[in-house]
Amino acid sequence: MSIERPSPHRSDARPSAIVVFTLTLLLTSATACSDAESPLEPNDDDAVTPPTNLPNLILRLDLNSVTDYTAVAWPAHYDQNVRARDNAPNDNPVTNAGAELGRVLFYDPRLSVNSTISCASCHAQSVGFGDDRRFSVGFEGGETGAHSMRLGNANFYEGDEMFWDRRADDLEEQVVLPIQDGVEMGFTPAAGGLGAVVARLETIDYYPVLFQRAFGSSQVTEQGLSRALAQFVRAMVSTDSRFDRAFAQVPMQGGGPPTGLPGFTAEENLGFRLFTRPPNQGGAGCDACHRLPTFALDPNSRSNGLDEGETRIFKSPSLKNVAVGSAFMHDGRFRTLREVVDFYDGGIQPGPALDRRLTEPGGQPMRLGLSAAERDALVAFLETLTDESLAADDRFSDPFVPQPGG
Ligand code: HEC
Ligand code: HEC
Repeated sequence: MSIERPSPHRSDARPSAIVVFTLTLLLTSATACSDAESPLEPNDDDAVTPPTNLPNLILRLDLNSVTDYTAVAWPAHYDQNVRARDNAPNDNPVTNAGAELGRVLFYDPRLSVNSTISCASCHAQSVGFGDDRRFSVGFEGGETGAHSMRLGNANFYEGDEMFWDRRADDLEEQVVLPIQDGVEMGFTPAAGGLGAVVARLETIDYYPVLFQRAFGSSQVTEQGLSRALAQFVRAMVSTDSRFDRAFAQVPMQGGGPPTGLPGFTAEENLGFRLFTRPPNQGGAGCDACHRLPTFALDPNSRSNGLDEGETRIFKSPSLKNVAVGSAFMHDGRFRTLREVVDFYDGGIQPGPALDRRLTEPGGQPMRLGLSAAERDALVAFLETLTDESLAADDRFSDPFVPQPGG
């Protein structure tokens, strides 16, 4: 018999240090130049010296009450089977103080070498923690080589491989890579790498306090930086789209999905059936890879045949909130969901990495031959995956007081 293991989201590792801080409502940060008598400006010609005149960002955080990231009630359809897919490692469960530190780091532009770009610049809460642009803009105005990925439900990515091409092993490894990227945030080895980030954060007075709360030591460390950011990303669980609210009312029937969802239009329900039925039963077979109810990708999924002869194996972020964006796939090549559906209907290309789920019995790329109404219905269904609660959730919002004049 299986033994029920505690969910990492049920950690009781609550920080005990919070009582020490009383009446701390607004924390101002000191600038890195502690020696106020030094009027020296950073040398613009010297690209390897990060500027030292850091913006003074005021944090709006009540240290008397810890934001709740762990005891949030998930709906019943996020059941044992779903929770078992959570990729939080045993040594880094999501804790309230850890995710809260991660939130501050996620929104802090000082994680980029010239203090202009934060994680949130390319992962905006209003766009499912993705980017509306086809390619995102980095710290010096350069563009990223791939389309930004939405971050909701990244914790349900079994196999835990990160990035479109799965090159990072897990979230802990992934979250510090953009900081060191030469286009994204600029702390390259020449600019001092993560060591320079740690040295910078140490000079900002609230970070030692937040590290103390999260990890029991006021020392700012690279490991703490990585763990806190990973916790914050893992806490971005999407459970409240229209799909979720409907699906919660109709349990799976005999292991299969129901034939329709309450409150859905006829078109949305047609799209739901196409999404969940295999091609040999008149469906489009989408959920063989984009799995209900998290819409995270099956870890065994291979490529979806965007380009002929493709050898790389890609992943997809969860399809939750996919409809709020306007660029789709790793290179953002499709501008509408209808273009995506048209591709799956008739455009899949042959190649060594193409997944068998997208081929005909003979091995050639699958041709669904859906009607225009069926393709519209699939789009209508994808639009029910928009989770406005996640976009409005204060726990994931910018904790800094807006600066006058931007
Ligand atoms: C300049 C834009 C930019 C910035 C800044 C940025 N990202 Fe990203 N992020 C991207 C792009 C683009 C991708 C996809 C890159 C790829 O696959 O090659 C991505 C991918 C990711 C992924 C992978 C998701 C998955 O499901 O595999 C995570 C997690 C992530 N970013 C978190 C962060 C965090 C945390 C920060 C801040 C430390 C950050 N990003 C900063 C643009 C950015
Ligand atoms: C074999 C597994 C597989 C099947 C089946 C599949 N997909 Fe995908 N899907 C993927 C992969 C892999 C990607 C990412 C490809 C890339 O960007 O290189 C993707 C990407 C997407 C995206 C874009 C996600 C984003 O964030 O840009 C959408 C939308 C999508 N699929 C919808 C569907 C629909 C609708 C169906 C059914 C008609 C379907 N998929 C069937 C594997 C699959």
